[in-house]
Parts: sequence; structure tokens; C-alpha cells
Amino acid sequence: MILVTGGAGFIGSNFILDWFSQSNEPVINLDKLTYAGNLQNLAITAGDERHVFVKGDIGDSALVTKLLAEHRPRAIINFAAESHVDRSILGPEAFIQTNIVGTFRLLEAAHAYWRTLNEAEKKDFRFLHVSTDEVYGSLTEHEPAFTEMHRYQPSSPYSASKASSDHLVNAYHRTFGLPTLITNCSNNYGPYQFPEKLIPLMIVNALAGRSLPIYGDGRQVRDWLYVADHCSALRRVLKAGEAGETYNIGGWNEKPNIEIVHTVCGLLREMTGGPATGDYLDLITHVRDRPGHDTRYAIDARKIERELDWRPGETFETGIRKTVRWYLDNQDWVASIQTGAYRDWIEKNYIQQRQ
Ligand code: NAD
Ligand code: DAU
Repeated sequence: MILVTGGAGFIGSNFILDWFSQSNEPVINLDKLTYAGNLQNLAITAGDERHVFVKGDIGDSALVTKLLAEHRPRAIINFAAESHVDRSILGPEAFIQTNIVGTFRLLEAAHAYWRTLNEAEKKDFRFLHVSTDEVYGSLTEHEPAFTEMHRYQPSSPYSASKASSDHLVNAYHRTFGLPTLITNCSNNYGPYQFPEKLIPLMIVNALAGRSLPIYGDGRQVRDWLYVADHCSALRRVLKAGEAGETYNIGGWNEKPNIEIVHTVCGLLREMTGGPATGDYLDLITHVRDRPGHDTRYAIDARKIERELDWRPGETFETGIRKTVRWYLDNQDWVASIQTGAYRDWIEKNYIQQRQ
């Protein structure tokens, strides 16, 4: 079996659903169920013995040690993290605790467990750490895309905490021989993404007739990847990646934020017939920029293509269409997570910070 951490979040839950569509190998899913974790994402696995859910913290060494001894996984895939840049600006502490201290404790437990394995099991074991392109910092308009050799230059408390965790993972490989893998992926979008991130926030706000807040001029560029493609890349890295290596994952899909929002509005208009009056585009509002806002991310995904024969299956046009459709068809899911805590976040980030 494999141990997945953070499997109730956006990418982790997509990964587990994708895993079960391809394999019968059981998954033990350790998730703290923060505001971003939602077991409804995995409702389809109810009664499925392949999925064992454990509520807990990756930083709880005793719990992780017990789970490893009991279930003896052949791999750990670490998705668990605080993942939202704006939250890291308003409250970095949780990012340090989970992304740095939590990853460290998970590595410690993994290392101790790995040492108990026989030689063949040791060789086959993998600790796959799911990381981000944000560790590389910001590119100017014409700079080449990030390769795996690009230097680390994180800008936000979030990206700095992810960068720290990557360094720890590499250290456990170099110093102790733990067979690690790191993936640095670009911006994901797709089903089950919490509506604090750009694309789901814009869909959800437009449908509710609320403003569409664009930070600054909206010219910042992100490199978008449909979440199912990230999952297939992770499966490929787990299967064929070389221990100690890093693989960048991206969709070759650079787009400015403002263009993304126009595309979302256009698709919503097409699929709903438009709002009662005016157009979704009328809701666009430029608000105060994110402090330290990175101008551009772009992933050079040639290594994973060359060495592991992986490339994305979706174009942005097909992926964004599926995504908008999913949010329209799953408004109950959206409603169920718009709790008091969600409304408090919207108030804190958009009313108190940006007006
Ligand atoms: P998310 O915020 O949607 O989910 C994170 C999950 O981790 C949640 O289920 C949460 O409950 C859980 N969690 C948080 N702290 C925990 C802890 N201490 N112990 C156990 N579980 C904990 O995040 P996501 O967007 O699914 O991102 C998953 C991973 O992928 C993160 O490591 C993130 O840095 C990385 N990543 C995300 C993107 C993206 O665009 N979303 C892109 C590249 C890399
Ligand atoms: O690049 C990978 C990263 O992508 C992941 O590591 C992070 O976990 C993930 O959250 C994401 O980070 P970003 O900061 O790029 O994503 P976000 O959706 O928050 O913002 C995307 C862009 O849109 C960014 O330039 C900020 C802008 N934005 C965002 C929000 C939420 C707005 O203009 N308005 C908004 O309301």
C-alpha cells in the first residue's frame, strides 16, 4: 500500500480518485482536515476497503510512526501543506509548522521506518514530496522557463516554507540515502479546488453576482495545468523516477490572470446564458495587489517528458471547460464549504486588506 498525506485536499483527493481508477493498491490517507481538507471529495470511496482514512497531523511523530509500522507502505506521497499564498501573508505560522516542521517530522519517521526494511524493500521505497514552481521565485517577461537547475528564490512565506521542505527532502537523500523524489509543479486547476484560489473563486463569485477581484493590473502570468495531468505525472514519477531526482511538471500553458478571468466569464455566459442583467465581465474589479506578488511563473517540463515520457493530456481550452462545467454541476459542494470560516477569510482578505 501507499501512504498519502493531505489526501482530502484539492490535489490529494484528485490523486486518490485517479489512483483507484487505475489500481487496486490500497491507500492510507493521513489528513488533518484543516479548512482545506474535505472528505466529501472522497465520498465516492465510501465503503471501499482500499481507502483507509486517518485524521491526523504529519507533524505527529508518534502517529506517523505507528501508521508506518502497522501498514508498511512501499511509498509516501506528501501532499499535506498549507497551500494559499495570501493566507501565508496574513498568518505565516501555520505554514512554518506544517510545511517545514511537519515535513521534517514526516521525513524523520520515514527514515526510521525505511531503516527497518530489507535491502530489496529499501531500494524500492519512495518518499515523493509534492512541491511547487513557486520555490524558484519570479521570472521577467522574456526569461526562459524554470528548469530543475534554476536557483531557489522564494518570495512569500508559503514559497519559502515549501523551499525549506524541498531542501530537507534533498538532505535526507544525500545524507541518509532515503530514496526521495521531488516534483515542482505549476498552478493546478480542476474539480474540488477550494474557492480561495483564482479560478474557483472567480467561478463562484460570478455565479453569486459578487465582484471578481483582480490583484493589481492582472498582467501576472501563471502556467496552468489541469489537476488530472498533475496526478498522472505523479504516478509516472513514482513508478519510474530516479531516487534523489527532481522533476518539474507543467502544462506549457502560460496565461495572464486577466485572460483567465475573461475565459471563465465567457464559458459561464455560454453555459448559463449569462446573469440576469449585464455580463459577468462587468463584475471585474481591480483591487490592491498582493504584497511581493510574483510576476510570472513558467515551467520547462522537458526533463519529465524526455526521461519519463510524460506530457499533459489536456489543453487549457479542454481543461477549463471541464472545470467550469464541474463547478456548475456541483454547486452543493461549493455551498457546503462556504461555512462561517470561509466567509471570515473572504472578509479578511478582500474587505480588510484590499479596499
Ligand atoms: P490544499 O490546501 O487543497 O490541501 C492541503 C491538504 O493538506 C488539506 O486536505 C489539509 O487538510 C491537509 N493538511 C494541512 N496541514 C496538514 C497537516 N499538518 N497534516 C496533515 N494534513 C494536513 O492543497 P493542494 O492545492 O491540494 O496542494 C497539495 C500540495 O501540492 C501542496 O503541498 C502544495 O504545495 C502543492 N502544490 C499545489 C499546487 C496548486 O496549484 N494547488 C501546485 C503545485 C504544488
Ligand atoms: O504555482 C503553483 C502554486 O499555485 C501553488 O504552489 C499554490 O499552492 C497555489 O495556491 C498557486 O499559487 P498562486 O498564488 O499562483 O495561486 P492563486 O490562485 O492564489 O493566484 C493565482 C494568480 O491570481 C496570482 O497571480 C494572484 C491572482 N489572484 C488570486 C486571487 C485569489 C487575483 O488576482 N485575485 C484573487 O482573488
